[in-house]
Amino acid sequence: MQNPFKPTAGATPPELVGRAGLLDEFEYGLQQGSGAPGLLTIITGSRGIGKTVMLSAAEDIARAQGWAVISRTATPGFLARVGDDMLRLLEELGDGPPARKITAFSAAGFGLTTQLPPERAVDWRRTGQELLRVLDSKGTGLVITVDEIHAVDRTEISQLAADVQHFIRDGLPIGLIFAGLPSAVSDLLNEGVATFLRRADRINLHEAAIAEVTTSFSQLFSQGGITISHDLISEAAEATEGYPFLIQLVGYYLWLEADKAGWTLDQASVQRAIATAQRRNTLVVVESALSDISDRDRQFLDAMATQDGPSAAGQIGAVLKAKPNVVSKYRNRLIAAGLIESAGYGKVDFAIPGLRQYLRQ
Ligand SMILES: Nc1ncnc2c1ncn2[C@@H]1O[C@H](COP(=O)(O)OP(=O)(O)OP(=O)(O)O)[C@@H](O)[C@H]1O
Ligand SMILES: [Mg+2]
Repeated sequence: MQNPFKPTAGATPPELVGRAGLLDEFEYGLQQGSGAPGLLTIITGSRGIGKTVMLSAAEDIARAQGWAVISRTATPGFLARVGDDMLRLLEELGDGPPARKITAFSAAGFGLTTQLPPERAVDWRRTGQELLRVLDSKGTGLVITVDEIHAVDRTEISQLAADVQHFIRDGLPIGLIFAGLPSAVSDLLNEGVATFLRRADRINLHEAAIAEVTTSFSQLFSQGGITISHDLISEAAEATEGYPFLIQLVGYYLWLEADKAGWTLDQASVQRAIATAQRRNTLVVVESALSDISDRDRQFLDAMATQDGPSAAGQIGAVLKAKPNVVSKYRNRLIAAGLIESAGYGKVDFAIPGLRQYLRQ
């Protein structure tokens, strides 16, 4: 049997651990149609927590219900590409060419600017309306997903939001799902560029419970005919800290070790797998997360790393010799960036596994 684990960004894992029920509201929204709250959803969470995979899961649900799906990553010019996708869908649906002849949105060079010129924005909206009317007549609708909204200029996001709001007002069947780091989303909502998005359903992704990881590992290993003791499975599950990327890495290297050793895993091979998984996690996630933060942010994290569990704001302030309002400013910034998370009243903890150990070295 092939190694089922997928330690690659965006790759759908063999099982979505700890995500039961999260897309129920969205699924219900698809049944209700235009204006249902679940059709407007924002997925947030730290790096590697599984945002892209959740978007794919939502897309699958939408397709299964007969909805059309446009899936884009928010790189400059993405709005023009969504326009092109809409044109293509209109053609595919076979109701003849759009009423007015509209040429591709990005081909004319608009794709690289962050804003459609006003006359093209009108075309964009008209194309959307036309497509949505066709889909509506078939009893379905359109879901647009936009990943990594932290990576793009606000103008495009707010233009998309304004158009979608328009479609909703017209009673057209449209769904919109964004995914991004918490920082992007709080900025977006605070800047007032797209106030109607404040009503969106928020799905904030967290680590899975260790017990669920244990169950998932047990099932997958037994399906693969791998012999491993319950204690060793628990040890491996523990090492993932419930963090999706590490679940895939640990699972992947356990499978690889089992393959080498006649499909049996002992203590030594489990430990080797865990060590390899943690090294890769550091390389891929931790170093990239730290690459774009300021020196002061780094000092804040270093102060946290001197402690074993969650850190109180007061303790961090003492190490940094900073006033509470300054500490709180950095705290909010690091939470928004998905590096730390609040851990009870006045305390914070690391949101990325391996970060503490890395900072200590
Ligand atoms: N619920 C889950 N259970 C198990 N593994 C998961 C789950 N969600 C995601 N994964 C795995 O975790 C890894 C990261 O997932 P994904 O790329 O969706 O994260 P992300 O939040 O989009 O990360 P980034 O911030 O880097 O874009 C992938 O290897 C994926 O297969
Ligand atoms: Mg992603």
